[in-house]
Amino acid sequence: MATIREVAESAGVSYATVSHVINNTRLVSPETRERVIAAMDALNYRPNALARSLRQGKTNTLGLVLPDSANPFFAEISRSIEDEAFKKGYSVFLCNTELDTQRELFYVDVLSKKQVDGIIFVAAGAQADSLDFLVGRNMPVVMIDRDVPSVEVDAVLTDNQLGGYLATRHLLELGHQRIACISGPSSITPSAERMIGYRKALEEAGLPYEERLILRGDYHAQSGMEITHAILKMSPRPTAIFALNDLMALGALRAAAEAGCIVPGDLAVIGYDDLEIARFTNPPLTTIAQPKKEIGVKAIELLVDRIARKDRSPSRLVLPPELIVRRSTQSIL
Ligand code: RIB
Repeated sequence: MATIREVAESAGVSYATVSHVINNTRLVSPETRERVIAAMDALNYRPNALARSLRQGKTNTLGLVLPDSANPFFAEISRSIEDEAFKKGYSVFLCNTELDTQRELFYVDVLSKKQVDGIIFVAAGAQADSLDFLVGRNMPVVMIDRDVPSVEVDAVLTDNQLGGYLATRHLLELGHQRIACISGPSSITPSAERMIGYRKALEEAGLPYEERLILRGDYHAQSGMEITHAILKMSPRPTAIFALNDLMALGALRAAAEAGCIVPGDLAVIGYDDLEIARFTNPPLTTIAQPKKEIGVKAIELLVDRIARKDRSPSRLVLPPELIVRRSTQSIL
């Protein structure tokens, strides 16, 4: 492997000039730059990224820690984050924790040792151990989607209470009064916050909150399908299902079809996330849209700013969700 010194001799310039051309750390005349680049090509010289990172104290890499990379919600969020990071000159290392807090701790240690410049973090659970680890190492972090209230870091969240309220009020306005709810894992904040919105809409309509209509899912389609089969056996049978994410709503549509139950005529179904697939189901899914692109853009903006200004006080952005009415819900009035 050729060295900088050999490139400098070949181009007839100083070591420092070659270094300035590689690192863009000082203005070099176009002619000199061309001579240096020609010498690098001729000698097949490749700058040592690790050596440059150590010199500059930056690696231009970011970590992205996700709880379930197979869930399309996180895939769509990842795309927005990677797009924005690329525009700002950063590469992204994706780490999938499978909702396992020990695996999460392993990954934040690896990312820290790789000296990424910052991390976008979706918590695997309610524990703050991984975030405490990162804050203790002065690692710039932006938390998205799931809140860990005990840790003061930048955060880009969505108003899950409003989302749960909008979904439930939509069903109530269509005349549904027995609304079953397929909730998500209790260990993470979005599910509990959406349930608060569900209860608020029921209370506002003067309807009772019935614990028997709340069934715990795991955010996967299989649990939505199995739980919907149980809901369809209830007596009196609920006329609507609010699934707290689209994957469980897809499972509900499958169960309804298997039971010969027409959606939305016999059963209304509303989901949450507005995955790209939601408009292609049969019938197309009514859902609550999360601003996935904006979450990614804002998260990168906050992280890049935090990298530049590590002592800035933490910011918390809470973005609004939106009701997207398609054809899996209809009036029964
Ligand atoms: O679909 C995955 C769910 O987990 C989404 O609703 C998202 O908000 C995350 O919390």
